Amino acid sequence: MSIQSVMENNRRIFDFVVLGSGIAGITFALQVADMGSVALVTKKDRTESNTNWAQGGIAGVQSPDDSYELHIKDTLIAGAGLCHEDAVDVLVREGPARIHELIDFGVNFTKESDGDIALTMEGGHSRHRIAFHKDLTGQEIERALVAQVAAHPAITVFEHHSGIDLAKSMDETEVCGVYVLDTVSEAIETFVARIAVFLATGGCGHVYSHTTNPSIATGDGVGIAFRAGAKVANMEFIQFHPTTLYYPGARSFLISEAVRGEGGILRDKSGRAFMKEYDERGTLAPRDIVARAIDAEMTRENAPCMYLDITHKPAAEIKERFPTIYAKCLSYGIDMTKEPIPVVPAAHYMCGGVVTDLNGKTNLKGLFASGEVSCTGVHGANRLASNSLLEGLVFSHRAAQWLRQHGDQIANDGEDVPPFRPYRGRVQEAETDALKRRIQNAMTKYVGIVRSNERLAKADAALSVIADEVDALYATCRPTEDLLELRNLYLVAQLIIRSALARQESRGLHYTTDYPHTVEEERHDTIMVKRKRTDFVLIS
Ligand code: SIN
Repeated sequence: MSIQSVMENNRRIFDFVVLGSGIAGITFALQVADMGSVALVTKKDRTESNTNWAQGGIAGVQSPDDSYELHIKDTLIAGAGLCHEDAVDVLVREGPARIHELIDFGVNFTKESDGDIALTMEGGHSRHRIAFHKDLTGQEIERALVAQVAAHPAITVFEHHSGIDLAKSMDETEVCGVYVLDTVSEAIETFVARIAVFLATGGCGHVYSHTTNPSIATGDGVGIAFRAGAKVANMEFIQFHPTTLYYPGARSFLISEAVRGEGGILRDKSGRAFMKEYDERGTLAPRDIVARAIDAEMTRENAPCMYLDITHKPAAEIKERFPTIYAKCLSYGIDMTKEPIPVVPAAHYMCGGVVTDLNGKTNLKGLFASGEVSCTGVHGANRLASNSLLEGLVFSHRAAQWLRQHGDQIANDGEDVPPFRPYRGRVQEAETDALKRRIQNAMTKYVGIVRSNERLAKADAALSVIADEVDALYATCRPTEDLLELRNLYLVAQLIIRSALARQESRGLHYTTDYPHTVEEERHDTIMVKRKRTDFVLIS
């Protein structure tokens, strides 16, 4: 294995090519950087990731009154019977060591006055076990990790580069790299990966009109992997965060679950605290239950939002603990120390994704994945709050360890990669914008928190038309960032719809009025693979 990358015939040759610069991608890059050259490829600039936007924190057993068994139990309960217990076991037991490595990297978690790490609470957790940095945990983690990357000579960061598709060997048996669009120069380059391609592209929130996710979250990794033949699972389980700021015309802004963890109460306009009517855990029930309760109350009262009230806490405490949320609300004229915050649910997290084993390996030789893009089995039908940064950390680390042992066995010579297809013509931005809005409108209208067969079928029909239009453009036009995102967005939307249609029950985040109950025979993953362009095969 070599440390230097090589540039040959318009091909960039590395040992590892990583797509995505959030916690999963950077952790992997740092862990393999002593084994060879690493390209860290990212769509925007290196800090624009879902990680950077995470307010809440990172869960891990750290206090004497907590235990691995309790964290495992809470994760399994939230996951509503679909978590893979071996994956949850790995996550919980290996998590604390990984969190301590973050501290060694310089992550500055908020501390108690005695110097211990402060631990907060979120929905579904039976103990205080979430380490945080004010309400900017992701940003703090990203700051420390990006500094580590900058100091590492084996890692080259390519900002403003979008993955197009996986490059496979001529005989199609292995993944050998990625075709990448440089969105500044508009050049298309082949990034050859002699050992592994690692997907860490995050989620797909922008398949909906309202999301807590940054603009990069367009389901790229799922689209790229699925088109190449990777298995994708459990896409029906889209987590809607119960509380984002409701302010007409404003972009969705997350009001962290930690606000409820610190005592915030959900109320309707008249001040009624309604959550206990839905679940005995009240405001801190798992997210699927809280989001559905808010949705039900909004429908029942024909109200545009519900309210999150933390005004009973001292103002100084609120400002110190939630400076970003306080400032954001205030910028809209809402003083959360004096009045309840108007909130609505919004798309937040993709619990399914590219199927991996416990070492981040997919079913395609040479392709690995971790973080939100992956489906390790940890989240089941509903992710427990603050388990996501942890998942990225733990499974990226494991993938790197696996490659340390076995990387030589899967290495290719980098010679066998076909060139990118020819193209001509150019798509107009107005055209891609309109198509994106059509996808988002169909998903928001028909594939939200409460579903039905009839509405899913309407969405499926709409998406088939959009898919044909996007593919017709892509077949001839020069790829642009918008066009690439559209290809991934429509495909991810179709995967969500088809997976939702396949699940004939309600479980976790998937609730349908046609099958309102949980059914034991349906307790399995929904796994899809591609056969032809529009033909997805359900294999489980
Ligand atoms: C939040 O702060 O509520 C988000 C944390 C998470 O999604 O785990």
